Amino acid sequence: MPMAPVTASLPEHVEETAPAKINLALHVTGQRSDGYHLLDSLVTFAVDGDELTFVAAEADSLTLSGRFGPVLALDPAGQDGNLVLRARDVLREALDETGQAYGPVAITLDKTLPVASGIGGGSADAAATLRGLMRLWQAELADTTLQELALKLGADVPMCLQSRPLRVRGIGETLEPVAMPSFPIVLVNPMRAVSTPEIFRRLARRDNPAMGALPGGDSADIWLTGLADLRNDLQPPAEALVPEIAEACDYLRQSLARFVRMSGSGATCFGLYESEPAALRAALALSSFRPDWYVLLTHTIAGEPA
Ligand code: C5P
Repeated sequence: MPMAPVTASLPEHVEETAPAKINLALHVTGQRSDGYHLLDSLVTFAVDGDELTFVAAEADSLTLSGRFGPVLALDPAGQDGNLVLRARDVLREALDETGQAYGPVAITLDKTLPVASGIGGGSADAAATLRGLMRLWQAELADTTLQELALKLGADVPMCLQSRPLRVRGIGETLEPVAMPSFPIVLVNPMRAVSTPEIFRRLARRDNPAMGALPGGDSADIWLTGLADLRNDLQPPAEALVPEIAEACDYLRQSLARFVRMSGSGATCFGLYESEPAALRAALALSSFRPDWYVLLTHTIAGEPA
């Protein structure tokens, strides 16, 4: 009896989460001659984020769904949707260069994170697209090549590719894993989109001090105390442009968060809590005070050293 041909079985359906990125600290330490800013930032990631699916199909497509899908659908060529397609295309170029095969793909982006909100959004979606399509097409690229592709797509995409606690330097390309516990967290966004270049432009100083030594270890209490010394240098210009950011931070402080900051260039703010019940109480109170705002109760991913 003839044997069935041996074929490598490719997955037909791959799912990836694009976890929300949270800047626990963001120090702006300088500026390059091309205008990009030099950073010293501490990032972690939530377990929740946008959800993407990649299905082998007859033709390429992108379908948007979720609470913030319609925001992107109004401008399908712009922002996050566009970054997903750009990620697909730069990956294909890299596969062409290394003689690897790929097919058409139907991508679904379930957009649950607010758009232009300082928590990764489009960058996390682009990174999830690189991860997902690498799996769908069973492609092989060196980690360094993938990191370079990510940086081409945006300064935050390399950190989102790793989606674990990191100290980030340069413009976002120098990544150092950080051992850090998981924290209960509440994210609050006053539903005002913020332009990142606009906030960088409004910085009073670009030569601020770097972070110094980080707390380290797995004691949440030591971390929560140590984080208080760190800054987000983009917060003052963002608060000047969007006064609801200071209001959101006030609500979070009143809700007994141990640590409160804005993430990225805003307008999403967050509180870290000592316990899940404390975070749950805060999230419930915030959503009843401001039902028109975005409130997410989640927890961050713990980190291991390299
Ligand atoms: O790299 P990305 O497209 O995400 O950055 C958006 C904008 O934010 C850049 O065009 C630049 O104006 C600003 N930016 C910066 N320095 C960084 C990251 C972003 O000035 N390190």
